[in-house]
Amino acid sequence: MDEIRIAIIGHGFMGHEDEHMLLHMPGIRLVGFSDIDPHQLKDVAPGLKRYASNEELLADPEVQVVIIAANNNQHHKLVCQAAHAGKDILCEKPIAMSVTELDDMVRVVEACGVKFTVHHQRRFDPDFRTIKEVYDQHLLGDVYKIKTGLYGFNGNMHDWHIYRSEGGGMLYDWGVHLLDQMLWMMPGVKVKQVFADVRNVINAEVDDYFKILLRMDNNITAEVELGTYLLTDKAHDKWFERHWLVSGNKGTAYVDGFEPEGKIVRTTHLLTNVSGRRTMTAAGPTRSFGPPPPGTIITEPLPQVHTCHEDYFRNYIRAWHGEEDFLVKIPETRRVLALMEAARESARCGKSVDFE
Ligand SMILES: NC(=O)c1ccc[n+]([C@@H]2O[C@H](COP(=O)([O-])OP(=O)(O)OC[C@H]3O[C@@H](n4cnc5c(N)ncnc54)[C@H](O)[C@@H]3O)[C@@H](O)[C@H]2O)c1
Repeated sequence: MDEIRIAIIGHGFMGHEDEHMLLHMPGIRLVGFSDIDPHQLKDVAPGLKRYASNEELLADPEVQVVIIAANNNQHHKLVCQAAHAGKDILCEKPIAMSVTELDDMVRVVEACGVKFTVHHQRRFDPDFRTIKEVYDQHLLGDVYKIKTGLYGFNGNMHDWHIYRSEGGGMLYDWGVHLLDQMLWMMPGVKVKQVFADVRNVINAEVDDYFKILLRMDNNITAEVELGTYLLTDKAHDKWFERHWLVSGNKGTAYVDGFEPEGKIVRTTHLLTNVSGRRTMTAAGPTRSFGPPPPGTIITEPLPQVHTCHEDYFRNYIRAWHGEEDFLVKIPETRRVLALMEAARESARCGKSVDFE
């Protein structure tokens, strides 16, 4: 199989990540980089081209595919330029700043007849794939609740991510991943209603906290929460927390961290009508929230998954050669953008918003 010749626009954080991953990936030959800031090209790996401009990169016949790894507000312009140059395009997330912007990009891409997909490699995150396996295998019975959360403890937002005009804010940055995972986990399931709290806790221009509730038509309420300003000291030597909590009528699954640890918890029999046992707590006596009868709680290991971000590019290579579909389809990314817009609207008006 011929190598796919790829060049990348933008040699910042993600450009470096892609360089690291693609330099030695079988099936891909990395050709070079352009960046609007020439200083960013200083440490491009030896043997790769450093283009003087995006135009020079796009005019290079050696380049078949362009990865757009520039700031979010540049995606529309750069995707359209790459399409007009006849290059296939792999765009970073979020694909666009709005549904309207994306529709315009799709019109151009289709008119130019080039391939177009998005770098949603977090569909291969091990924590997400573990919880997807729990869901796919119906390990928890009738699921009624899925919660996914990411919390940062150092109060840090950085660089252009704090400017609205650049496409900053955590909804664009991480919300797009978390919502994409949630929707992709449940194919064919509609989101009936969206209720969201989206806040600028300490940042003047952009959101740094959100909680989004999705009422799905399979009877699940999905919750997506992220905050960058939930401070702790370094007591537990960890500057973020990542959690999934999924509960059904036959158990609860806990997944913690990107390299997931966790378990499934069940009861040996349903405790729907047991005689009340009084337990004393600091807040007074309780029966509902005391310990269950001894021996009723059991735990099971989570399913094992074997997945990594390289798998995203393995699919990309096969799909580019026409052997399978691209995993990430543009209408899926449009739906995520529409959901983000519905979340912002819900937060603005303080009411739930009908979605599908
Ligand atoms: N998929 C992921 O997990 C993931 C992770 C991080 C960032 N990203 C995405 O990657 C993109 C870049 O983010 P980043 O964190 O690397 O930002 P960054 O600021 O670290 O790097 C962006 C680079 O693009 C360059 N640039 C900006 N406008 C340009 C233009 N018009 N032409 C050429 N170069 C230009 C900048 O000079 C900079 O070097 C964003 O869309 C972001 O959302 C994706």
